[in-house]
Amino acid sequence: MIPQSFIQDLLNRVDIVDVVESYVPLKRAGSNYAARCPFHSEKSPSFTVSQTKQFYHCFGCGAHGTAISFLMEHQGMGFIDAVKDLAGRVGMVVPEPTPDPEHKEKVETAEDLTQVMLKAAQFYKAQLKSSDKAVAYLKNRGLTGEIAARYGLGYAPEGWQNLEAVFPEYRAKSLTEAGLVIASEEGRRYDRFRDRIMFPIHNQRGAVIGFGGRVIDQGEPKYLNSPETPLFEKGRELYGLFQARGAIREAQRVVVVEGYMDVVALGQYDIGYAVATLGTATTPWQVQKLLRQTDNVIYCFDGDAAGRRAAWRALENSLAQLHDGKQVRFLFLPPEHDPDSFVRAHGKETFGKLLDAAPPLSEILVQELTSRVDMRTAEGRAKFLQESRPLVKQVAAPLLSLMLRKQIAELAGVSQAELDRSFDIKVAGRTQAQAPERRESIKPSLLRALVEMLAFQPSLAALADSERLRENADLASSELPQSEIMLLTKVLELCTRENHIRSVAEHFRGSEFELLAHEIETGSLKWESMDQEALQSEFVGAWKKLVERFRHVRITLLLEKSKRQSWTSEEKEQFRRLQHGAANETPG
Ligand code: UTP
Ligand code: MN
Repeated sequence: MIPQSFIQDLLNRVDIVDVVESYVPLKRAGSNYAARCPFHSEKSPSFTVSQTKQFYHCFGCGAHGTAISFLMEHQGMGFIDAVKDLAGRVGMVVPEPTPDPEHKEKVETAEDLTQVMLKAAQFYKAQLKSSDKAVAYLKNRGLTGEIAARYGLGYAPEGWQNLEAVFPEYRAKSLTEAGLVIASEEGRRYDRFRDRIMFPIHNQRGAVIGFGGRVIDQGEPKYLNSPETPLFEKGRELYGLFQARGAIREAQRVVVVEGYMDVVALGQYDIGYAVATLGTATTPWQVQKLLRQTDNVIYCFDGDAAGRRAAWRALENSLAQLHDGKQVRFLFLPPEHDPDSFVRAHGKETFGKLLDAAPPLSEILVQELTSRVDMRTAEGRAKFLQESRPLVKQVAAPLLSLMLRKQIAELAGVSQAELDRSFDIKVAGRTQAQAPERRESIKPSLLRALVEMLAFQPSLAALADSERLRENADLASSELPQSEIMLLTKVLELCTRENHIRSVAEHFRGSEFELLAHEIETGSLKWESMDQEALQSEFVGAWKKLVERFRHVRITLLLEKSKRQSWTSEEKEQFRRLQHGAANETPG
């Protein structure tokens, strides 16, 4: 193992701009450098290299990393060779790799989550081949072996501990952490997925990060999904995106459907550019991810009331992500169909025609809002204006915003100037202060923001209270995801321990945090524009908010408990302390 301190020193000495430039011609673009991405084909440059942060990032395909990753991904070098190459450029000598007993042991006891998921996926895949029942099911649903292979479909057999066959250390923590094994309160352990068709969920780099498992025929729940893990956050992933990338580029569009089977069935009909959300409403992150792949996103929903509601949520979450030149459209299928059954009944051509004719977001927006009021009355039109306002104000794309305002003004019977005044839209100011085209428009969650700031400036760690964080690490929720609490804890430790971290992502290479750390590092760029003082006060403010949130959750938990049983004297004391503003749980 090459010591991490050497890696960080090395990254401090080399300049990624020189390294990349020795293979790809770069052009200066503001404080960064830009080029057409060497990792995917494109016409306009979305590949940037940041000299201050010493990493590259492609807004098109998501390629991202340090000078080391660049040599590995662009030149196909192994990690050690990449390190040697860079060391040679700056005259450093790579220390002989020393065996690291501690590290070795860790690898033996807890296999890396990514590795665990891969092994499980291979196991399920092999099991499918030997299960007549599972193969018959898929055949019956019209799927060929070729398509099953393309999506890596598998089968989790009946029985409680089948995974023991591939993971002799069935009690390893990594198996429960990966969501593959469930530990009961009595200490029993068993496979989460039993007697189900398995749909592996891949990230954009093709690593398996989760599974959806469908019952064969009848049973509840119909689909069982992996829980959220350090690898897998539902709201940020899209099923089928990895397989769809080529087809999306070729067709210059992507269609977003609701189900695993819809994606696979469309794939069977040679519509390879379909992806699915994972049983949740479409999130802004998902929209942003898609709009980086293509200019043309089409949501496809069922024609029933539930489909309409889902479409509206998707619409609301898309508004802020739109840039001029991007199109988001909506296709509603007849109520009796989902994309799977539709394409089987009517074929590829008909489905394609419906996609071509799908109405744009602006039309759906106006349609929905006008249907909620009586447009014949002044009151109705006033309500219409009032409801349009918050939606229109989210649209940052100047031309789309203009077109929407024109249309809304016309329908409401006011002039566009009147509408802009009542919407508080400053037309001149807006064009001047126009947002840079690729500004990061999503506000990161509180935890992410904290990690990003630390990644940007490790010395901020001195302003954090890690004790507080440790005491409250058990409070994971959808608002405070487990993976992010864990990452914040780790990064904080790292920043306190080391004083010259160049790349957080490099530090987590090969661990289950690698991908999350890459995302964080990309996100950390946005703090560049802040001056020192502002950054510090932002950090302190965010930390206070976090502590406040912990306090709030603790109070809620106690109050909930009081409905079931009375408090112990410690709990009474704890409640008193919490009410006085302390966020830690232990009295004293
Ligand atoms: P659907 O019930 O429409 O499933 O749920 P489907 O994809 O059409 O599947 P088939 O055709 O019946 O096999 C749509 C999506 O909602 C999530 C899954 O992601 C599913 O693909 N879902 C549904 C669950 O997570 N759990 C469930 O029990 C049901
Ligand atoms: Mn279906």
